[in-house]
Amino acid sequence: MKINSIKNLKNLAGKKVLLRVDYNVPLEGKKIKDDFRIKASYDTINYLQEKGAKIILVSHLGRAKGKVDSSNSLKPVFLYLKENLSSDLKFISEHDPKKAKKETDNLKEGEIAMIENVRFNKGELTDDKKFSKELANLAEIYVNDAFSVCHRKQASVSGVKEYLPSYAGFLIEKEVEALNKVVNPKKPLVAIMGGAKISTKAPLIFNLHDKADNILIGGALATVFFKTLGYEVGNSFCENEVDDSILEKMKNKKYLKKIILPIDVVVQNKKGIVRQCVPESVKKNESILDIGPETIGLFAKHIKEANTLIWNGPMGKFEEHSFRQGSLSIARSIASRAKGPSFGVLGGGETIEVIKMTKMSEYIDFISTAGGAMLSFLGGKELPGLNKIVSY
Ligand code: 3PG
Repeated sequence: MKINSIKNLKNLAGKKVLLRVDYNVPLEGKKIKDDFRIKASYDTINYLQEKGAKIILVSHLGRAKGKVDSSNSLKPVFLYLKENLSSDLKFISEHDPKKAKKETDNLKEGEIAMIENVRFNKGELTDDKKFSKELANLAEIYVNDAFSVCHRKQASVSGVKEYLPSYAGFLIEKEVEALNKVVNPKKPLVAIMGGAKISTKAPLIFNLHDKADNILIGGALATVFFKTLGYEVGNSFCENEVDDSILEKMKNKKYLKKIILPIDVVVQNKKGIVRQCVPESVKKNESILDIGPETIGLFAKHIKEANTLIWNGPMGKFEEHSFRQGSLSIARSIASRAKGPSFGVLGGGETIEVIKMTKMSEYIDFISTAGGAMLSFLGGKELPGLNKIVSY
């Protein structure tokens, strides 16, 4: 694998660099609730700034649909960066690159400007050529450090690379290198998959299948398997519109051989009564909300045998205290093996929330900033944001 790293760039002093970052962070009013992605961009910004580049930060926030939506303004992120990263930072309230150009052209060496949410432009979402050119026109070099949006074919992620010499920032390098160790694992590889939707996780489950020794399934993903096997799942959350091709694979013995489903679950009925039972005996008025203690033990045994671990998705309804034991226990098992006998990687917003609850994040080898992009990468899909800057 070859990465066209920014370390390959010579003579950056005075050069205008269009730096795509992913500052799609959760906000509470104007307050940043989680700064993980923002901090993850510092290495690249600091490096470019030290080399004297003029930095133009481009990001999206939320799902703005090609028009101005003030609730998705990047201003709160700008204020955070100004306070925490660099006072040499300007906010350009224009989202249209043509209108932002005058101000970005006036940047001095080492200065940074952030333009308003790029998704306020229609051309961004359609990966429009004309818009990509307009973005490219702001700079002399393009650096992508927004791994978490690399699965989107959008102008600032993909199209702009047609018009500028393009490089990968340090975050993309770290993400790709870590995830590559999962794709080419030191065996045994154990994948732990949970969360809500089988349709988003299936590519990863079935793509890693040949390489993985075991795939441990929890959360609502397990419920879909139970339903496919003909078990009663009561009122459990269960994705209904699953592609036939996925359902076929879920029944296929070849795949089932490596898939380890929960052997017991924690359920709650409509009156709030909670019990533990085998998956085959869930009643019509019950919902599956966590994996049970026998499953925790079984999953921990497999996790202990692994040399490589990849985890995405909680094991149950971890938002509620009564149903987070499964997720917390799995997080602890992974953390106790990672940065030690195993190489452990995890990603996805909810998975990160769980590991934070255990206060054991520091024991994980790599925590991805990505959700969907990580699933796409591990699912063997081509990521438009990596074309031209990462080759295999
Ligand atoms: C993410 O949060 O996963 C990325 O920022 C991509 O956002 P999107 O799903 O709105 O494209």
